[in-house]
Amino acid sequence: MREEVSVSYQNLIVEKSGSRAEVTVNRPQALNALNGQTMEELTAAFRALDADPDVRVVIVTGAGDKAFVAGADISAMADLGVTEARAFARLGYTLGLTLAGMKKIVIAAVHGFALGGGCELALACDFIYASDKAKFGQPEVKLAVIPGFGGTQRLARRVGAARALELVTVGEPISAEEALRIGLCNRVVAGGRDALLEEVRKVAGQIAERGPVAVALAKQAVRESLELSLDAGCRYEGDLFAQCFATADQKEGMRAFLEKRPARFQGR
Ligand code: CAA
Repeated sequence: MREEVSVSYQNLIVEKSGSRAEVTVNRPQALNALNGQTMEELTAAFRALDADPDVRVVIVTGAGDKAFVAGADISAMADLGVTEARAFARLGYTLGLTLAGMKKIVIAAVHGFALGGGCELALACDFIYASDKAKFGQPEVKLAVIPGFGGTQRLARRVGAARALELVTVGEPISAEEALRIGLCNRVVAGGRDALLEEVRKVAGQIAERGPVAVALAKQAVRESLELSLDAGCRYEGDLFAQCFATADQKEGMRAFLEKRPARFQGR
């Protein structure tokens, strides 16, 4: 990967390679647990990457061989009061809402533990690929708290209320295969972290070749489908479909097909 560190962060590594960016949570000594600073850095990094015209797809992963992210940082939470806990939760849900609002597709590459806030970070991404060594879970009740970064909300939408309730009240982790079976992750890749990243980069590369405005509008349409009735959603999709026809890329994409040549998209 041609590496280019764009901005320096204390707890993240942000690398760009062509149209792809990779954000690695880099606190392996704490299994990449999310403290306040890490969440602020993630939110800032995603906002910057969304505004960066060179970047078309973002991959999120964790440093080291043990964890994607093993949760919110327990040492940062242990002594919080109610008001501080609300502020801490706000950092997490702001991060999740930032990811959802991005024009670019964000793929979570999960190797090792994705627990608590780590599972919630993965769930806030557009989709999840996992290594066969991944473990997903919402163990918060073992600490006598509940998920605070959108886990109850996104898990219920992703896997249904009954499975979400099982995960957040039993608190035991599930394997990558089980996560695949219930639709929590999209794909499981054998062969460790490197094999997982190779696969995710391949898919990211495919998305990066598509019309960027169309990818952004597709994300917007699918995300809104969770909030709208089918009727309103289909009308909304029709409006976004029509918007594509205001772009040079739509003309290029269809002309290239008819002329039997690859399309060259400009993102407008
Ligand atoms: N916060 C802070 N530190 C953490 C952490 C976390 N969530 N998870 C792991 N660490 C630290 C450990 O304290 C340990 O540090 P030291 O070496 O300084 O002792 C280091 O990372 C390595 O961890 P372990 O020695 O525990 O590693 P292990 O292989 O024995 O166990 C594990 C791995 C099962 C993931 C275990 O670390 C664990 O259970 N971690 C906590 C998982 C958890 O409860 N996550 C949910 C947090 S609450 C939350 O996320 C709330 C929310 O939604 C907002």
